[in-house]
Amino acid sequence: MSSKILMLPGDGIGVEVTAEAEKLIKALAELYGVDIEMESGLIGGAAIDATGEPLPEETLALCEACDAVVLGAVGGPKWSDPRAEKRPEQGLLDLRKALKLYANLRPVRLHPSLANISPLKEEHIQNVDMMVVRELTGGSYFGEKVDGDDFASDECSYSREEIERVVAMAAEMARNRYGKLTMIDKANVMATSRLWRKVTAEVMQKRFPDVHYDFMLVDAAAMHIVANPAQFNVIVTENMFGDILTDEASVLVGSMGMLPSASLGDGQKGLYEPIHGSAPEIAGREIANPFGMLASVGMMFEYSLGMREASRQVELALWDCISVGQCTLDIGGNLRTSEAGDAVIERLRAIHTKRVAFV
Ligand code: NAD
Ligand code: IPM
Ligand code: MN
Repeated sequence: MSSKILMLPGDGIGVEVTAEAEKLIKALAELYGVDIEMESGLIGGAAIDATGEPLPEETLALCEACDAVVLGAVGGPKWSDPRAEKRPEQGLLDLRKALKLYANLRPVRLHPSLANISPLKEEHIQNVDMMVVRELTGGSYFGEKVDGDDFASDECSYSREEIERVVAMAAEMARNRYGKLTMIDKANVMATSRLWRKVTAEVMQKRFPDVHYDFMLVDAAAMHIVANPAQFNVIVTENMFGDILTDEASVLVGSMGMLPSASLGDGQKGLYEPIHGSAPEIAGREIANPFGMLASVGMMFEYSLGMREASRQVELALWDCISVGQCTLDIGGNLRTSEAGDAVIERLRAIHTKRVAFV
């Protein structure tokens, strides 16, 4: 088997954490004896500087031709002028849309030894283990925009089909976890949310009668996520609510640097990126937490390469490192970004050797 992976480091700490992803992918390829070809490309601010475009055609062609894309982060103050014609973030949005990656999976799981890092009381965050499925190619992110000086607007629209496919994917996950699906919306105000409610109920009753589901308004959900997060199992929600609620949820598990994501569509191809941004204020200091990125690589091995065992071993290696404090500053360790990456690979080798010995 041979797989092609495209690395898109992007900007700021995106570059630093992508370097760690590359090391991990190499180590996994070697341990599992699989042939993985890695290439890299430009996206975001780095691409604007080099080519004038946040998603150059050449990058898009590389994305079309590979099995999976690993992305660091895009953006930064250099490209943040509201009058700027091209924005780094648009490159990422265009890429998600072009690859038809309509579902963004963001698992949020608390490592027990990080309960004391969170500003929330330990007893409130125990047993947090949820999967947030964020719709990724619709809503106000992609509606018609008016960017005027005296008037601006962002159209928010959803079609039945856009809702059905992402709800079905989330429901499948809830079924596999023997869990519950919570659809989060603003149905007391938004017409799009009322369509989400109707379509969700239909999909669940027709295709997932065995899966329990409920609805929650997004303002209340923002409160419940910090007050009683363990009540959630699988969440499905529209694009912007999913964006906001997952940054909030990152506080439960210790740091923005911890959360991975997988963006999927109907095929095997996926885009894998941590949920954090380019973190300009810590960029270049070698203190960025690479674990969200490394966990994203783990998700890639499961969803795009079909190597579930490799994915589990990445998770175990990450958890081992956290257990013994081999991690970056933000979650209580004292390792630099690259040292934390090395520690994970070292653990991975140890886990792999033990497993092979028992076969
Ligand atoms: P951010 O996610 O970059 O940072 C938020 C906070 O979390 C900061 O305090 C930062 O230091 C901290 N943080 C983030 N990642 C961390 C890590 N790996 N380790 C330790 N601490 C970490 O959000 P922001 O500052 O609002 O945005 C900065 C830029 O990133 C903006 O241009 C924004 O558009 C962009 N952005 C890009 C993506 C992406 O590419 N997927 C995601 C979010 C934001
Ligand atoms: C994310 C980011 C992006 C989003 C931005 C950079 C366009 O915040 O991936 O969570 O809003 O989707
Ligand atoms: Mn975000």
